[in-house]
Amino acid sequence: MSSPAERFAAEAPGTDVRGATAPAAEIAVSARGVRKEYLGGDGRTLTVLAGVDLDVARGEAISVIGRSGSGKSTLLQVLGGLDVPNAGTVHVGGRDLARLNEEDLARVRSTSIGFVFQFHHLLREFTALENVMMPQLIAGAGDRQARDRARELLAGVGLEDRATHKPSQLSGGEQQRVAVARALANRPLVLLADEPSGNLDPETAEAMHDEFFRVCRDEGAALVLVTHDLALAARAGRVLRLHAGHLENAHGPEPGLLE
Ligand SMILES: Nc1ncnc2c1ncn2[C@@H]1O[C@H](COP(=O)(O)OP(=O)(O)OP(=O)(O)O)[C@@H](O)[C@H]1O
Ligand SMILES: [Mg+2]
Repeated sequence: MSSPAERFAAEAPGTDVRGATAPAAEIAVSARGVRKEYLGGDGRTLTVLAGVDLDVARGEAISVIGRSGSGKSTLLQVLGGLDVPNAGTVHVGGRDLARLNEEDLARVRSTSIGFVFQFHHLLREFTALENVMMPQLIAGAGDRQARDRARELLAGVGLEDRATHKPSQLSGGEQQRVAVARALANRPLVLLADEPSGNLDPETAEAMHDEFFRVCRDEGAALVLVTHDLALAARAGRVLRLHAGHLENAHGPEPGLLE
């Protein structure tokens, strides 16, 4: 059976992606004129994204840097269909998220998008293994198939002996690694990682980052990695800085890059 990424690419060649440098079918996620505003506690409107344009091709890794509060998590949430922009469009696998009904949007989110959050959001009532099985079951995998892949993914993040632990019985870093396994469970077309290694030791963090770049390179996922770590950011093919609501090219980890 073809992967969800391949199925989406086949179903939707992405003809309405404008201005792309890669062939349209190769664009995994794109944003056009995306605006996001929040109403602050003081009743004033805060414009976090002021017209963001972005294309990320399959197999491409980009990193997004920027000061705390600049809107990086907001951008990932909008790209991943977890939040709706006030204006502009987001396409995933050539599909306009705004045109999907709730059921189709949920399906795209669970089959095409892998999200590693700044804070992990595991399901507390379920074991590590069940947390990794869940997105696969939602996407229609059989129990046996989901279980086997979940075991394999947990082994891949060094947690084969923690499969039956619930989140409360795991360390913070272990919970985060379960969240990574869960994000990869359905072989996503787009992998969105938001400061994924905050509470990991350097070796474990590096292994996680290696896995992200491997999935991008070998499985053709588009990787969007938000990080404050400039050395990590520089591993991506493109480094973009979110500043004053816009994405700008950032050229290498120079001093003052986060200014
Ligand atoms: N639901 C909300 N309502 C109002 N304001 C919000 C909401 N969510 C985020 N904000 C504001 O939007 C801005 C961007 O937040 P966001 O979480 O995207 O920043 P960030 O770049 O991810 O920051 P960090 O590096 O600290 O994680 C912040 O100033 C925040 O206060
Ligand atoms: Mg954030």
